[in-house]
Amino acid sequence: MDTVEIIRAKRDGHRLTDDQITWFIDNYARGGVIADEQAAALAMAIFFRGMQSDELATWTRAMVDSGSRLDLSGVGRPTVDKHSTGGVGDKVSLILVPLVAACGAAVPQLSGRGLGHTGGTLDKMEAIPGWRASLGVDEMVDQMRQVGGVIAGATGDISPADRRLYALRDVTATVDSIPLIASSIMSKKIAEGTDSLVLDVKVGSGAFLPEVDRARELARTMVGLGESNGVRTVALLTAMHTVLGRTAGNALEVVEALEVLEGGGPADLVEVTLALADEMAALAGLDADPAAVLASGRPREVFGEMVAAQGGDLSADLPVAPHVEVVTVDEAGWLGRLDCLSVGIAAWRLGAGRARKEDAVSPSAGVVCLAKPGDAVQAGQPVLELHAEEPALFDAAREALRDAIDVVDEAPVPQPLIVDRIEA
Ligand code: URA
Repeated sequence: MDTVEIIRAKRDGHRLTDDQITWFIDNYARGGVIADEQAAALAMAIFFRGMQSDELATWTRAMVDSGSRLDLSGVGRPTVDKHSTGGVGDKVSLILVPLVAACGAAVPQLSGRGLGHTGGTLDKMEAIPGWRASLGVDEMVDQMRQVGGVIAGATGDISPADRRLYALRDVTATVDSIPLIASSIMSKKIAEGTDSLVLDVKVGSGAFLPEVDRARELARTMVGLGESNGVRTVALLTAMHTVLGRTAGNALEVVEALEVLEGGGPADLVEVTLALADEMAALAGLDADPAAVLASGRPREVFGEMVAAQGGDLSADLPVAPHVEVVTVDEAGWLGRLDCLSVGIAAWRLGAGRARKEDAVSPSAGVVCLAKPGDAVQAGQPVLELHAEEPALFDAAREALRDAIDVVDEAPVPQPLIVDRIEA
């Protein structure tokens, strides 16, 4: 095989052969034969030329085969997972994993850390004193058998080709290519060994792909990849125009997730979580009504068991930021817009997120929305609370929020939270 020939073929718009794809991915994952600049050139060629669906299926399977595929046959329950393309205030996994486990499935959620304005599930869980993200495969399988749900960091052998390619795409402006995103996400989810998968593809300013058409194309591509690899897959497109729930920030989101598990919490968060839980229960063939199971309180107990199994202590106090400031509105009316991306950037600048993979995050920092779009507001009313460990961080957060808030004269028409549903 000739690496330059493979790059040239894609540069000129040709379909790569299965042999070219498997050779390229296998050798890039191993290191040695293919240089980073050659892989970067191929990623850029794919960015511009795209991939045919069978070509992308082979590419994705080669990424899965670059590492190992977990064998979850021993967990004794149907397995079903959820993946979100990421948003602001998206603490759904903390509720959904124990909820679907309480419905009777096993949920093997291998998650990541946040980067930029979107939060990561592991960062949120790590706000719980003592909780550890890293589990061996046997520990994960045991926990799924006994408790039903696991949230953990991916093991080093899950799609190692993706680890190398993603780092490269990050520094070569080739992240936002639909075939490359879809294969990256789905290679990890297929390798995780789940029987079925629900995708939560976010749409709106806080989403990875804000426009609905691109989000729908991504959803269709990922559903196709799941199905062609034996993973039953359904996608929901859900709104991310404003923060989901009322909080963005690690410990703040844990508190809000616990509120939902205890029967309360914001209506939008409950609605999105239950819509995803319904899809997961159906894919897993469970005879359970997630809303009734949530109301029973059992998912709260399962969450406690999940946390304890990974060393966490929910009876210990969660971290609280020592400094809190508010953002007010000048006029009376209705809150028409509270821009999601701006709130995400503010939370990140307050310390809740990281700019580089190796940065630490603050467990206590973040933003609380005291009002949400559609709420009536008075002049001078506080609409946001900013939480930080250092007061010096407030100015940069306020700057991010400068054009984020609109107050309007008439109550805005509520927009649907569930925008679309895609299945094979
Ligand atoms: N998340 C991933 O895991 N991969 C991408 O390419 C983009 C988002």
